[in-house]
Amino acid sequence: MTDEEPDEQGIYHWGDISQFPEHLKKYWHQRFRIWQCYNQGIWMTEDAWFGVTPEPIANKIAVHIAESAPKEKTVIIDAFAGVGGNAIAFARNEHFDQVFAIEKDPKTMKCAKHNAKVYGVDKKIVWCAGDCFDIIKRRFSGNTNIIIFASPPWGGTEYSHDDVFDLSKMEPYNLEKLYTSFSKYSKHVVLYLPRTSDLNQLARYAPGDKKVEIAHYCIMGASKALCAYYGDFDFGSENEEAAAEDRE
Ligand SMILES: C[S@@+](CC[C@H](N)C(=O)[O-])C[C@H]1O[C@@H](n2cnc3c(N)ncnc32)[C@H](O)[C@@H]1O
Repeated sequence: MTDEEPDEQGIYHWGDISQFPEHLKKYWHQRFRIWQCYNQGIWMTEDAWFGVTPEPIANKIAVHIAESAPKEKTVIIDAFAGVGGNAIAFARNEHFDQVFAIEKDPKTMKCAKHNAKVYGVDKKIVWCAGDCFDIIKRRFSGNTNIIIFASPPWGGTEYSHDDVFDLSKMEPYNLEKLYTSFSKYSKHVVLYLPRTSDLNQLARYAPGDKKVEIAHYCIMGASKALCAYYGDFDFGSENEEAAAEDRE
């Protein structure tokens, strides 16, 4: 809990539905699904409502990464930290010793720092202001202990109109740009993408003879997004496959 009020134009804590602009009113009803501690003074920008990862999903992703990644991979970069949805969930998970949160928009980053204080995990996060492609290249070349998590902008709501979303058209960064940029610096890359993402495109980037694990994340039975896990993430699926074969 912090008593700090937003002190800058464009950063808000709306405590009443009448304060929400018309186009964001639906989020009033979802505010506690997005942030369990919303009433403890969470700060948001207008844009952040569209992109923030809801807390139950962010927590589940943190658990999945923590449990499936090699045990020694205890440092994670959140390349597109936004207002902190995922970075805070990683910091709250005991598996991670350190979280690097990169965000290029200063107001959004100010919200993320504040929100991490609300959740009491600000000390565990190293904040990096700027462009993630540049920062990762400059600061993390040669570091083999890191996992890169990326929840990029999806380019508006275009993805929801298509049965299958063409990831080569995602704006401003398509799958090729994301995967090639991040896989240069880490063998463990997790991408958070639209639920309708083209799975064939995702599979094409699986390194060598490895598989890519895809997990859908749902709220109230409906998929909100998926994560593609590239690298040595062990979900125990080979054991499950063997068990399934035994049953046949
Ligand atoms: C979908 S939002 C991330 C939401 C975040 N996972 C959360 O829960 O709050 C994408 C964020 O990436 C930021 N961004 C876009 N391009 C970037 C870049 N090249 N480097 C760093 N941040 C970037 C945007 O400002 C935006 O805040």
